[in-house]
Amino acid sequence: MSNALKQVLVLNGPNLGRLGKRQPEIYGHTTHDELAALCVDWGHGLGFAVDVRQTNHEGDMVDWLNAAADKGIPVALNAAAWTHYSYAIYDACAQLTAPLVEVHISEPLERPEVFRHTSVVTPHATAVVAGKGIDGYREALEVIAAKLGDA
Ligand code: DQA
Repeated sequence: MSNALKQVLVLNGPNLGRLGKRQPEIYGHTTHDELAALCVDWGHGLGFAVDVRQTNHEGDMVDWLNAAADKGIPVALNAAAWTHYSYAIYDACAQLTAPLVEVHISEPLERPEVFRHTSVVTPHATAVVAGKGIDGYREALEVIAAKLGDA
């Protein structure tokens, strides 16, 4: 049996690089670098090598999701605003075979903007973790661990 940690991707979409500065009343004070370090730590505890990435460029996100599909890598995805309208993200998520967990720091369904009430990710997701702040990423990694344990 190999002792290699299983690779898991945490992928964050547009404006999440500004965590800590961006609307802290909604998204909190934790920066993206701090979030990344937490995810790596939480992942280690679950036997994962977690790679945390953030982009404001939709094509980069599609490329990362396509590579995850090719390699069978589980993904915790916060597609941020793309969640609500990107059919390119919908199509990329459709190709994933390993567990996909949709993450949101806030609870989009409880926010006043109606556009946030639609998700192109949910139809392909094993689970949705929303409204739990940064801790939602820990829960997403735990869901992935449980799913892989079931497989
Ligand atoms: C978000 C919620 C989205 O509606 C929003 O566009 C984001 C962040 C969240 O993490 O709560 O950028 O995905």
